[in-house]
Amino acid sequence: MYNFEYQNPVKIIFGKGTIPKVGSEIPANTKVLLIYGGGSIKRTGVYDKVKDALKNVDLLEFGGIEPNPHYETCMKAVELIKKEDVNFLLSVGGGSVLDATKFIAAAALYKGDDPWDFLSHRFEIEVEEALPLGDVLTLPATGSEMNGNAVITRESTQEKLSFGSPKVMPQFSILDPECIFTLPDKQVANGIVDAFMHVLEQYLTFAVNSPIQDRFAEGILTTLVEEGPKVLANRNDYDAAANFMWSATMALNGLIGSGVPQDWATHMIGHELTAFHGIDHARTLAIVMPGIMNIKRENKKEKLLQFGERIWGITEGTYNERIDKAIAKTVEFFESLGVPCKLPDYDVPAETIEKIKERFKQRGSKLGEKADIDYNEVEAILQDRL
Ligand code: NZQ
Ligand code: ZN
Repeated sequence: MYNFEYQNPVKIIFGKGTIPKVGSEIPANTKVLLIYGGGSIKRTGVYDKVKDALKNVDLLEFGGIEPNPHYETCMKAVELIKKEDVNFLLSVGGGSVLDATKFIAAAALYKGDDPWDFLSHRFEIEVEEALPLGDVLTLPATGSEMNGNAVITRESTQEKLSFGSPKVMPQFSILDPECIFTLPDKQVANGIVDAFMHVLEQYLTFAVNSPIQDRFAEGILTTLVEEGPKVLANRNDYDAAANFMWSATMALNGLIGSGVPQDWATHMIGHELTAFHGIDHARTLAIVMPGIMNIKRENKKEKLLQFGERIWGITEGTYNERIDKAIAKTVEFFESLGVPCKLPDYDVPAETIEKIKERFKQRGSKLGEKADIDYNEVEAILQDRL
């Protein structure tokens, strides 16, 4: 196992009927900006519960954060914050609203010219200070509720980039699994796939003798395989919803990734598919991951075999046959949730592969746990998905 440091200060408030607790989590004497998305919180009743709990709080609102939140929209919130002297941010919504809130929190106190720097110069420019924030999460998927990451899209340049800082970790996250009851099938399926992929990105690498991390990861994967379909079949199954929600949080709160190699190539390539074609985040991952498993099978051999055996019960055949079966079972699982896994399923033309290859060529970035996926291999991975 590698050396690591792990600190996660997020207070999790989990369970049925917990939304009103937001009232006691907001620090005293603050001016709060409630940030939300396209209006689902008003249709589902979450908005009313939050407003009711914050009756005595000095509260402003900013709605209209898009799925795959836009930099341009976030900057409007920053303007409002500066004008109104807001000093606490409350995200109410899914991962997009929360990611936007994190970016806004850092952007509002940035002393440089353009906060896009946090994303375009991710490894040179650190977040030095940010407004404090908390959230009521309405969609389990991203793990954003217990990490310091955010993914933002710049519409004008069709770029989708991420940044991360401990300064934008939420002070608290309220997770009421009953929020899942109102989710459409598509978002439930997306959430299951996204969480599954977060685990794979930290697990499907190479072995470093880390049985705790491996078994935690396998526990989350198995739970998603068992509980995910129950949520899809019966949206009011509270126990299944709770297990799904906690799986998604545990998948990306830094715990299973501590002390082990990580990949993230699937996410990096997937972000380009969203940037060019607006495909839902999780669906881009379902397209790319089987290609990575196939093309990088030598690098990932040991963990792919372990994944096949422990998650899908595959124990027979040559190692290549077992890896083929593990890929097929994974694709079958995603498809059973209604998430197709090939580029043509999303009408992505072959020219997009060339455009994505060119982006990675220009960036000069090497992806994967061994930093050996260059632009030519990105092309091969995407060709595999035609
Ligand atoms: O915008 P509203 O009206 O609120 O509707 C949303 C949105 O249309 C709706 N929704 C949310 N909760 C609902 C609901 N509808 C009914 N009932 C509810 N309880 O669902 C739609 C999708 O919401 P969104 O927030 O976009 O989904 P998700 O949570 O999957 O977030 C996706 C974003 O997170 C980023 C992705 O790249 C993408 O931009 N990610 C962030 C990560 C992180 N911060 O660590 C890691 C992930 O890998 C991911 O990249
Ligand atoms: Zn993701």
